[in-house]
Amino acid sequence: MKQFEQSDALKRLPEQFFAKLAAKVNRYKEEGHDIINLGQGNPDQPTPQHIIQTLQSSAEKPEYHKYPPFRGQPFLKQAVAEFYKREFDVTIDPEQEVAVLFGGKAGLVEVSQCLLNKGDKALMPDPGYPDYWSGVAMAEAEMHPMPLLEENDFLPDYEAISEEDFRKAKLMFLNYPNNPTAAQATESFFEDTIKRANEHDICVVHDFAYGAIGFDGKKPISFLEVDGAKDVGIEIYTMSKTYNMAGWRVGFAIGNPSVIQSINLLQDHLYVSLFSGIQEAAAEALLGSQKCVEDLNHMYESRRSVLIEGLKDIGWNVKAPAGSFFTWLKVPESFTSETFADYLLEEAKVVVAPGNGFGTYGEGYVRAGLLTSEDRLREAVSRIEKLDLF
Ligand SMILES: Cc1ncc(COP(=O)(O)O)c(C=O)c1O
Repeated sequence: MKQFEQSDALKRLPEQFFAKLAAKVNRYKEEGHDIINLGQGNPDQPTPQHIIQTLQSSAEKPEYHKYPPFRGQPFLKQAVAEFYKREFDVTIDPEQEVAVLFGGKAGLVEVSQCLLNKGDKALMPDPGYPDYWSGVAMAEAEMHPMPLLEENDFLPDYEAISEEDFRKAKLMFLNYPNNPTAAQATESFFEDTIKRANEHDICVVHDFAYGAIGFDGKKPISFLEVDGAKDVGIEIYTMSKTYNMAGWRVGFAIGNPSVIQSINLLQDHLYVSLFSGIQEAAAEALLGSQKCVEDLNHMYESRRSVLIEGLKDIGWNVKAPAGSFFTWLKVPESFTSETFADYLLEEAKVVVAPGNGFGTYGEGYVRAGLLTSEDRLREAVSRIEKLDLF
């Protein structure tokens, strides 16, 4: 069999750090161990029934069996505009300021290909969601890390970025509520971001994947809520977390019309948009009853209390997350992120994601997700207690 060589663009793609972890977990499972997997970000609850029913009935529509419009169904873009008005009081032009995506991940990779040339810089949160790196690598651009440190509430410190690095930067990725640190952004931070972006002609891409998950009554802020945001950037919103639709692959880019046009142009050459039944179900999710979202937020908040209070009770000094469905936990001093994650897997059969997989500044932490029942979270705490680490 011939072995065809990969293109240079593919060879530049970063290694999938978590694939290694997944393989190890599978080995343990095959050996019959009862694994509590807090290492992944896959919502554990089903999609709400009214959304599924919309897909079921829309699948019967012959007009949906044909190609959909290249740039998505107008009714879905209208629904996105209504959703942003209702949730964040943001006014959006559905035709010029919304691009329909195959999930947030696709848009986050595409935007780098749309805006970056060889040698350009992209300012990147570190730790951060690894998919941002892929598009930058494919575009032959470079990443400039912005450390997210606990002492800065896991917000980047713009004072620490030199004038020259700001000048070379064309793109900046942000993500709040944050994966993996679970921090929320503030309005003043976004205002400062817009000021810097204006000064240095940087396009801001705010990944709002966890936009529906905020705790202690603190609703996450949309970047687009802040004055001037649309002048300098876009937000990426996904249906995956808000409506437990991770397998449906649907999301949106919203904001600056020139960036939206670029994403649409690239997508014209790659796809013919999503199946219209999925688009109709997504519109139903955005415009129908939001009780499912409220219930989901409560469920994560109460799981959070179980895990965080449980870990505190056994003597682990951990901080409660402000949003997202992750917790970001400092590892005991004698461990690194990786040795600690390995130790928990081997000795307690509890999986967590080592923080260094999210970047250099993730070292010293592990990420544990809230994507299993309260009973299983209690069981994880009790297994960790038995290790007598704290
Ligand atoms: C921070 C962040 N952004 C984006 C995504 C992508 O979500 P999707 O491609 O399902 O829309 C995820 C998924 O885990 C995420 O954690």
